[in-house]
Amino acid sequence: AMAEKGGFRHFMLKEIFEQPLTLRNTLSGRVIPDTGAVQLELGIADESLKKLERIALVACGTSWHAALLARYWLEKWVGIPVEVDIASEFRYRRLLLNERVLTVVISQSGETADTLAGLRQAASLGSPVLAICNVVGSTMTREADGVLYTHAGPEIGVASTKAFMSQMTALLLFALYMSQLRGTLPLSGQKRLGLELIGLAETLNRIIDPVRRSVQRIIESYYEARDFLFVGRGLNYPIALEGALKLKEISYIHAEGYAAGELKHGPIALIDPDMPVVALAPQDSSYPKLMSNVQEIKARQGRLIMIGTEGDTQLAELTPDLILLPKADENLLPLLCTIPAQLLAYEIAARRGCDVDQPRNLAKSVTVE
Ligand code: G6P
Repeated sequence: AMAEKGGFRHFMLKEIFEQPLTLRNTLSGRVIPDTGAVQLELGIADESLKKLERIALVACGTSWHAALLARYWLEKWVGIPVEVDIASEFRYRRLLLNERVLTVVISQSGETADTLAGLRQAASLGSPVLAICNVVGSTMTREADGVLYTHAGPEIGVASTKAFMSQMTALLLFALYMSQLRGTLPLSGQKRLGLELIGLAETLNRIIDPVRRSVQRIIESYYEARDFLFVGRGLNYPIALEGALKLKEISYIHAEGYAAGELKHGPIALIDPDMPVVALAPQDSSYPKLMSNVQEIKARQGRLIMIGTEGDTQLAELTPDLILLPKADENLLPLLCTIPAQLLAYEIAARRGCDVDQPRNLAKSVTVE
């Protein structure tokens, strides 16, 4: 059994470690290595992509977190309005869709019942549908007008890790491609991001082991907690949600992800030494605001685990429990921050003796409503 897990104790850990390769596979043939230019074959005519007035992103679970993240990139680079929906809500709303609205369904399996129903609803209203899927030939890929495969390879662990990495990467490529088509981002900026994405595989490769060691040291004094809060702002808010989801899925610890600016509207009432807070605090444009939210947590005796940037000396004044990541373009930071978020959940669950690969009550793909 160890052999099929490549020497790792669990499939989830193997899949976390595979992510540098996953990133490369998702980029392969789509970013020109010398120039950084993005080329995609989406199966939807460029002419109709140019005329779009809005994009609707639809997904469940971890795939929904990838959708939340994509909204920031698409709005920023393409300047197009984006709505993001949980598929089980989307399918029953009165949908205001037409041929000028692109519906993008995001699904690892391509079989999730609610997401598939959302695809069908959108198609029936004349909305062109793009499926971002991992499983080749899955139902969504057959029914959508266009497909962007994520190429993560088979994912065995029920808690999604490398598939999430590949979804974020595919959505980044899609946003860059759209900005290229519509001329909304200078080509130089777009190519620089393409090249940085290629370089990110090497960065991920370099950080996974040291991040894991930091996480292992830190969790010794946290793994028995009953509740956890994950906070982030901007691009790292969806990663806070994903960190909390991973933790509850596999360790059965109650965890919530929150936009840090929303703490004062409720969750701050919960802060005490018994509820650890994981703060995603890399040095991006939302950093100053995030740090003032963290000060409020600190002032209420909150215990902090902080995920930040190497060389940031302010963090050590707040907590000894730091996980430091290298500097990167702020648009790519969520991909980096995902690694410690996944490893925190994994190491805590393993330390608690949980069945990491087969968590109770959960299925890899939910094909009934
Ligand atoms: C299940 C899985 C999750 C996954 C979600 C959506 O709940 O346990 O890991 O994120 O379904 O699955 P999909 O295949 O549509 O991405």
